[in-house]
Amino acid sequence: MGGTDEARDHAHEDATWRRGDVGVVAGAAPREMMSAAPAPTLISEHSPGNSGPASVATPVDEGQSALPEGEHVVVELQGIRKSFGSVEVLHGVDVTVHAGEHVVIFGPSGSGKSTLLRTINLLEQPDEGSLRVLGVEYGPAPCPKAERGNPLELRRRVGMVFQQFNLFPHLSALENVTLALRRVKRLSRSAADERAAEALESVGLLRWAAHYPSQLSGGQQQRVAIARAVSLDPKVMLFDEPTSALDPELVGEVLGVMRKLAESGMTMVIVTHELNFAREIGDMNVFMEDGEIVEFGPRGFFDECTNARAREFIGSVL
Ligand SMILES: Nc1ncnc2c1ncn2[C@@H]1O[C@H](COP(=O)(O)OP(=O)(O)O)[C@@H](O)[C@H]1O
Ligand SMILES: [Mg+2]
Repeated sequence: MGGTDEARDHAHEDATWRRGDVGVVAGAAPREMMSAAPAPTLISEHSPGNSGPASVATPVDEGQSALPEGEHVVVELQGIRKSFGSVEVLHGVDVTVHAGEHVVIFGPSGSGKSTLLRTINLLEQPDEGSLRVLGVEYGPAPCPKAERGNPLELRRRVGMVFQQFNLFPHLSALENVTLALRRVKRLSRSAADERAAEALESVGLLRWAAHYPSQLSGGQQQRVAIARAVSLDPKVMLFDEPTSALDPELVGEVLGVMRKLAESGMTMVIVTHELNFAREIGDMNVFMEDGEIVEFGPRGFFDECTNARAREFIGSVL
């Protein structure tokens, strides 16, 4: 259980809310649906010893490459390094996520999956490397600080769902969603109510709108958290082990909501141990270990990957 992590996430949310001008970590930009067709993906990785950024870069799905290069890139991480104190936990990671693509990240505990995901909306500040979201540079390199994008703007474009839901316990399901809409989107009460009701309906929870988190199952709470994030129209949704805190019988309903979201064309980056779901949904699958991307591949990865460590891990989970 990531108690410390979750406390930090809550602290972030609270601080964010107090500032009053930006939403929970699930920020958003005006609606502009992403293309449902995933563009080709480039993911590369290099080891801590490699100084250059371009070690491996493998294009996949070349048949769909009709658009100019970079046209549909939503998230691009290059050479991301992150240390906590003197311990480096990301050793130069490169990931590119295209519009409509569903990227799955998996690997052993402590391999850096959460840190990588949290880097995408700057909940963790990378020490080195480039972080571009929708063409805007937010990372330390190669951009001077004055020319980097605004982290608050970034968080409006990136929605995030955590293992522990992070709902406000004193607010109903509806209010948890409307609060975000009113603060981030500056919607009127009635407009926020209407949009929140639509969002709850989309996750099958409209009739639970007046219930408080303590009156909802874990699966229902996580569906509210997803509705809250999605109601803000993010350009990309990040999921950090969204079903890990759930009783097994509640996992399916959350995966069902995520499946529906994926089918709607939402760009998604998902850290999960639900490898059957990953196998079904992952356009690109990334195996991490010890702060590095050890192996990655397109659909079919879980059956075709030959990397011994990835195979061992997949075998231990599936
Ligand atoms: N805030 C932090 N302070 C110090 N170390 C951290 C912090 N967050 C993560 N770590 C360390 O970074 C490494 C990667 O952690 P994490 O990204 O949470 O891995 P995963 O999500 O794959 O389990 C671990 O060794 C973890 O202990
Ligand atoms: Mg984690």
